[in-house]
Amino acid sequence: MAAHHTITLHNGLVIPSLGFGTFQPSASAGEGVADTTAEQAVFEALRAGYRLIDTAAFYQTEGAVGRAIRRAEDELGIPRSEIFVTSKLWVTNTTYDGALRGYDRSLEKSGLDYFDLYLIHNPMNDIFGAWRALSELYLSGKIRSIGVSNFSRARMEDFISFTDIVPHVNQIEVNVFHQQNDDITYMNDHNIVVEAWAPFARGRHDLFNNTILRDIAHKYDVTVSQIIERWLIQRGIIPLPKSVNKDRIQTNYDVWNFELTDTDMARIKSLDEGKSQFFDWQDPAVYRRFAQLPYAD
Ligand SMILES: NC(=O)c1ccc[n+]([C@@H]2O[C@H](COP(=O)([O-])OP(=O)(O)OC[C@H]3O[C@@H](n4cnc5c(N)ncnc54)[C@H](OP(=O)(O)O)[C@@H]3O)[C@@H](O)[C@H]2O)c1
Repeated sequence: MAAHHTITLHNGLVIPSLGFGTFQPSASAGEGVADTTAEQAVFEALRAGYRLIDTAAFYQTEGAVGRAIRRAEDELGIPRSEIFVTSKLWVTNTTYDGALRGYDRSLEKSGLDYFDLYLIHNPMNDIFGAWRALSELYLSGKIRSIGVSNFSRARMEDFISFTDIVPHVNQIEVNVFHQQNDDITYMNDHNIVVEAWAPFARGRHDLFNNTILRDIAHKYDVTVSQIIERWLIQRGIIPLPKSVNKDRIQTNYDVWNFELTDTDMARIKSLDEGKSQFFDWQDPAVYRRFAQLPYAD
């Protein structure tokens, strides 16, 4: 792993400070096309310099990620050991037995020997049972780190009060409109690294045309996407931008040559609306929807 642009998890494992997302590689394409698109996008991401790849059983991109990693090894000479691969356990498998089975299935689909990080995808079902299973896999060396996703600070407090291993990572929605500052402070206080999903709010709320972001981007002669990534990286939050466009994949990785000032950071902070662009975890309908989503194991 490159010596720069990394963060250290509380177990000493080094994780890149910028990652690459693989959800909905091609929203409108058929399954086969989405699969090829995801593989090519991950390959381009590895070529561009990303060394953290985010997938999930639910995304159906584990196979594509595995193929891209093998191609990168063959064609670009990037060893698997330099790539940090994350996958996630879907809600219907979030039980003790389901986690053991789900982890094996993720490995099988990806064709990889191990994951660097495996997450409980959502705070649903038997998260304590699933955590016991993931903890066993972690302690036996089959996963290098374990974590959760979409856990609020209250949920996390309950969780760590009754489990032995504090999650290494919590992957949550963080973007300029939903900044989650209290949750991030809590995670920082407990040495839980925060990863930001939907760092660009998937373009919602006309994010890429936001006046403040455009103004700051203009000042550094960079893009709005790069400003957002710097805003996260400078606070120790790992952005997981997704793109299937080669130029945007490259642009989104090119964030190391400028630094936002305290004034810039404060202006971005003012954009917080304290509201998800996607779902409200206080709403029972969200849980119902996730529980019922079609999922082919
Ligand atoms: N744990 C969870 O529950 C959870 C939930 C959602 C997502 N995630 C993870 O987080 C990753 C990122 O989130 P996301 O995919 O939902 O959304 P996102 O990264 O905020 O936004 C992706 C969208 O932005 C566009 N885009 C990317 N770079 C751009 C640029 N420089 N200029 C203009 N448009 C740009 C992409 O289009 P193009 O592809 O055409 O460039 C795509 O439509 C996911 O892929 C997934 O790995 C996790």
